[in-house]
Order: sequence, then C-alpha cells, then structure tokens
Amino acid sequence: MPLAPKFDLIIHGGTVIDGTKTPRFDADIGILEGFITAIGDLSMCEADAKMDATGKIVAAGFIDSHTHDDQAVLAQPDMTFKISQGVTTVITGNCGISIAPLHPGSPLPAPLNLLADVGSARFATFRSYLDALRRQPSAVNVAAMVGHTTLRVMTMSSLERAAESSEIGAMNALLEEALEAGAIGISTGTYYPPAAHASTQEVIDVCRPITGTGAVYVTHMRDEADNSMVSLEETFLIGRELDSPVVISHHKLQRAQNFGKSAITLPRIREAMQCQCVALDCYPYNASSTMLHRDPSRLQGRILIASSEPHPEQAGRDLDAIASEWQIDKTDAAARLQPASAIYFGMDEGDVQNILAFDETMIGSDGIPTGEKPHPRLWGTFPRILGHYSRDIGLFPLETAIWKMTGLTARNFKLVKRGTLRIGQHADVVVFNAATIRT
Ligand code: ZN
Ligand code: CU
Repeated sequence: MPLAPKFDLIIHGGTVIDGTKTPRFDADIGILEGFITAIGDLSMCEADAKMDATGKIVAAGFIDSHTHDDQAVLAQPDMTFKISQGVTTVITGNCGISIAPLHPGSPLPAPLNLLADVGSARFATFRSYLDALRRQPSAVNVAAMVGHTTLRVMTMSSLERAAESSEIGAMNALLEEALEAGAIGISTGTYYPPAAHASTQEVIDVCRPITGTGAVYVTHMRDEADNSMVSLEETFLIGRELDSPVVISHHKLQRAQNFGKSAITLPRIREAMQCQCVALDCYPYNASSTMLHRDPSRLQGRILIASSEPHPEQAGRDLDAIASEWQIDKTDAAARLQPASAIYFGMDEGDVQNILAFDETMIGSDGIPTGEKPHPRLWGTFPRILGHYSRDIGLFPLETAIWKMTGLTARNFKLVKRGTLRIGQHADVVVFNAATIRT
C-alpha cells in the first residue's frame, strides 16, 4: 500500500473558490515546499501543520492590480495594510510613477513625491531596485512596472515640453534595462503635470521597447472627466501602435456633468476588446485620492486633506474649512499646504458600481501608503468588495469577486503560477469568513 503523501501544511474543511469563476466546492488543500500539491479529501494525510478552515472560504491570494507600494515593500516589508486584506501580490509602478530608476539627487516633482520620501533609498537602475527586494523580500510578492514620468525625470532637462529624440533614446535604454531586469510593463500618467506635455507620439516612441515582449502598457489616462472618450481612444491607439496589451487604470468618470457616462465608456471598452488586448481596474469607492492639485480647475467639489508636509495638523480636514480659517481662497490654501495629498469626492456611485460589475474589471486599490490620513482604499479595498459589494448589495457572486482579484489579474499581467488555487500553483492562499468579512 503506497504511503499517504506528507505535506508541510494542510488547510482542511474549507470551501474552495479557486479564482476561475468556477462554483465553490468543499476540499482540503495540501501544501508542500511553497506549492499547492493536492486538492481533495486529505483527511488520511499527514502534515507538519494543519489549519482548520471549517465554515470558511479558501481562495487564491488576492492580487492588487494597482498599487503605489514601490517604496513601501522596502520600508514596511510586513505590508500589514495589504496582508490584512488577503493580498499576497502587488503590482507596483502605476500612474507613470516608479521609484526606479532614479538618481540619488533626482528631484521628486508631485506626484512622484507620493512614492518616495526625501531620505529614502534611490536606485539608479531597475535591476538594483529588484535586487534590493530580493535581498530583503517583503511579505507580498511584487510585480513591478517602470513609470514613464520617472523616465522623464531621469532624462529630461525640462518637463514642460515633449521629449526630444535624444531623450526618447535615453528613455528607451532605461526601459530596455528595466524589462531585461524583470519589469512587467510600463505605466503612464499624462494626467499629471510632469507628463502632461508628453504627446501621444512621445508615449508610443518611449514605450516602443515593450513591443513583442508581452509586457503591458498601463495608463492613468490624460483625462477622466469631460474628455474621457478622447482619452480612451488615445489609449487604444497607443496599444495598437505598440501591438501590446493595455490596462486602463482606475477607470472612473469625474465631475457631476460626467456622471452616468460609464454607460458609454464601458461599451466602447468592450468593443475595443474585440480587436486588441484591453484590461481595466477599479477601486470600490466614489472618492479618489492623489496629490493636492494647484490648478484651480482641479480644486472643485469637496476636498479632504490626506497629508501635508508643512501642515500635518490639517490632515483629515476639508480644504474649504482650512481656507476659511486661514481667510484665504482655496487655491492659496492648497498652495500653502504643499507638498500634500488629498481625497476628492468627485464620482457617482452608480458609475462605480457599473464599472466594478463590468465582467473584465479587475480590483485594484490605488492605495497611497504614505501620509497621516490615507484614503481608506489603502486598507479596505478587498474586504469592501467581498463584504459590501458582493455579499451585502449582491453586485456579483463571491466567485466573480474573487476572480476579479485573482485569476483575471494574473491573466492580464501574465503572472505565472499565481491567481488560481490549483495543483502546481504557488501556495498563495487566503482563508476568510464570507459571512462576516467587512471593512
Ligand atoms: Zn492614477
Ligand atoms: Cu494610481
């Protein structure tokens, strides 16, 4: 009679949701040397450790498709704000900003300053950043992208114009180095001042080295308000020109006059998906968060200060209240609070739900792991999807919710052996109580 296999760990008695949208089933999970090696009835098997998951869901570890954890994975390697949500893998380098490559003396124009503190380590090459992570691994797996804004900061004497051909050549070389070192793609953030002057052609030319590599082009689009449709077309065009998959970051429609327009953007995204590779992510909140803008046109509606370097005591307060206390207008108050980050109440809950429920939408927190009063998406995105949106309001079944944070994300970012709970996969596993999980 053959010996029953031995495991390092058996998670027994749970209900498996495997990250493929397949209906849940009851099974034990056997783990050996970091891999899932058995799924089924393992009650007769031995293990060094056993974990009782009776009454709980056992799922593939969640993948946060949109993070700004580039520096946090080094500075806060326990990554409590992600691990506590069941996140086992993070995609870094979003919105055009990555902490590598950057020279020690490089300036950090906003929003780059959201990522790296003045005193934090700098990495002049992407390889040296990944090497630092390998030397001191964080509690989560990291799939890192390089940011176009970061490349501009590294190579351009002025950010107030499109790049010249010699600068594009220099950015190409840095991108090639990053891809060779293991970067999974490049992101842009043409919405933000340091990349706003980059033309569509600049983006195509800078990103050219990803063509044919399978690496992704990920974008915080130029406009997520009045000109969202134009920005979508720009994104699709760049993807076609590069012959590369594109990811639309944190798809949203800002400002009251654009509320309801997900009824137009989502069908257009679906149509584009017929002829090119398009993916998108979304966070489950109707308020956004980023640098505190200076441009008055971006200071509309309710704005809550999340952090301010010169005025940390103002974190958690409304910009309007601060301005009236200081007896100045809000543009001046915003200037006085810089460098700072803020939360903007500028989306429609109906759009948020439409976008979350769109079958191809991945879940990504877009959390900003700095500041005194961060947007709650940093700590709450994944339980909010599982508890509020899936269980409490029934936006989609739990199997779909988990697929949006595991299998779909692994597929879109080509993460090998991650994102599904199957034999042969890395043992990234999360166990939770579906009846009680909440933010
Ligand atoms: Zn962004
Ligand atoms: Cu972002």
